[in-house]
Amino acid sequence: MRIRFVQPDGTEKCVNEDPGVSVMVAAIRHGVAGINGDCGGSMDCATCHVYLDEAQSKLVPPQPVTKSTCCRLSSPSEGRPAA
Ligand code: FES
Repeated sequence: MRIRFVQPDGTEKCVNEDPGVSVMVAAIRHGVAGINGDCGGSMDCATCHVYLDEAQSKLVPPQPVTKSTCCRLSSPSEGRPAA
């Protein structure tokens, strides 16, 4: 699968990764700035954020919203929050 990471300043990095690998792990493997994986992907550190457009969001199953994962929800129509 191909993943495109977009930094707050607009710079992009595209990487190829095997299906089933988390986006966080792919970012760490490819040295994407700003992704530390502090909690190992358990959603406790809340440093990972993924924004999907409407078409992409239909490709993944609904995700549970829990207290530890929900600081702020936004829809694709709201766009990406300012850095
Ligand atoms: S490593 Fe992604 S939320 Fe902690």
